[in-house]
Amino acid sequence: MKIVVVGMGYVGLVAACCLARSGHQVIGVESAPEKLSKLRSGILPLYEEGLEEVYRKTVESQHLSFTDDLREAIEVADIIMIAVGTPSLPDGRVDLSQVYEVSGTICEAADHPFIVVMKSTVPPGTGKYLIERFFSKARVPISYVSNPEFLREGIAVWDWYHPDRIVVGCDDARTAEKVLELYSDIEAPKVTMDITSAEMVKYASNAFLATKISFINEIANLCELVGADIKAVAPAVGMDKRIGPHFLQAGLGYGGSCFPKDTKGLDFVSTFNGYSFNLLKAVIEVNAKQRILAVRKLHKLLGGLVGRRIAVLGLAFKPNTDDIREAPAIDIIRYLVDEGAEVAAADPLAIRNAASQLPPCVKLSPDPYEVLHGAQAVLLATEWPQFIVLDWGKVKGLMREPFVIVDGRNALDPEKLTELGFIYCGFGVLPKFRG
Ligand code: UDX
Repeated sequence: MKIVVVGMGYVGLVAACCLARSGHQVIGVESAPEKLSKLRSGILPLYEEGLEEVYRKTVESQHLSFTDDLREAIEVADIIMIAVGTPSLPDGRVDLSQVYEVSGTICEAADHPFIVVMKSTVPPGTGKYLIERFFSKARVPISYVSNPEFLREGIAVWDWYHPDRIVVGCDDARTAEKVLELYSDIEAPKVTMDITSAEMVKYASNAFLATKISFINEIANLCELVGADIKAVAPAVGMDKRIGPHFLQAGLGYGGSCFPKDTKGLDFVSTFNGYSFNLLKAVIEVNAKQRILAVRKLHKLLGGLVGRRIAVLGLAFKPNTDDIREAPAIDIIRYLVDEGAEVAAADPLAIRNAASQLPPCVKLSPDPYEVLHGAQAVLLATEWPQFIVLDWGKVKGLMREPFVIVDGRNALDPEKLTELGFIYCGFGVLPKFRG
């Protein structure tokens, strides 16, 4: 089929490349001039494992091309997939301005029947609204389908080909079948339902995953008070098949472009519809507090923060990405600087993105050993593999009293570090020190 994908972010670009690899004729539409010129000159504007290979093959086979002219692109389209950004507004409301702009252009330019597939995450009820405001008024029949994605950043290509389910929300079965053809080469349960329900599946899924994280963080915080060890508790809880082992990793909590946005977006939609989603409000609040907890731990173990030198390892919201959106490290560093600490931070990929988000006094380097020089404490904020396997004996030699480690992801070995003379502090485990 001839497919237009609007918005070359990590969802849209992965979708465009993978659909092209499936043999469809795909045009990626990108309005940002710099991003478009990179895409046209063979440079990927973002990192996604395995994407480079798919991108090269599909561009070479001429199954994939890029443009900034949406009107021209849709002239030959069977399917128009909307994958533009739907960021959070300050009050938590989802900013749908890009979706509205694209929907308006599609309607004005429509000169033959086609299907609009909404891949962007939009609040429940948006599809119905878009049909009423835009697509029902076009001069030709435009069908609308909600087709949410469940891609994790950094491994989105793998997730594209290994989804737990493919969800299609649509008002008529024939259109749903046509959209499911896009995924004919992917082994996964395919579920169809109405549009609003499909939108809700996406929000409910992300809200539940975020709930698991905040739940285990509350249990971890309680473990510290009663002397239990979350690293023993969480795996045993996860052995219950009804609970499952995933998303029970206690620590600094979630960041990224999805969980924070989708939890706040669902909270806003709930309030807007006259419902107070109290559990979700608590999930959001608990997650925000984990960052402050890290600062309190450092304050307590250092006997204050003024003039203390602290190294932060990790700036990205999770390993294997350069994305720092809502990353715990960014907030924590700002708190520490405000409290008078001297902070240096390292990250393998995210330095460039982080520099513009941090105070100029924060020293940044891709080399962890460089930022550890003279540090009195180190906070592991992102569990990059290369930070886990640091030469901690060498680290000790670079640092100075009192050699504090706050392990924001419970990813390090408390016994080994205590043996080396560090004061180890995790989340949900009691502080450990020699003697
Ligand atoms: C998430 C969802 O997993 C994905 O299905 C959805 O489409 C987009 O949002 P992503 O945000 O890319 O994907 O990252 P993910 O790997 O899910 O981690 C999210 C955040 O939760 C990270 O900040 C991670 O550090 C944190 N996390 C994850 C925990 O704190 N504890 C856990 O046990 C798991």
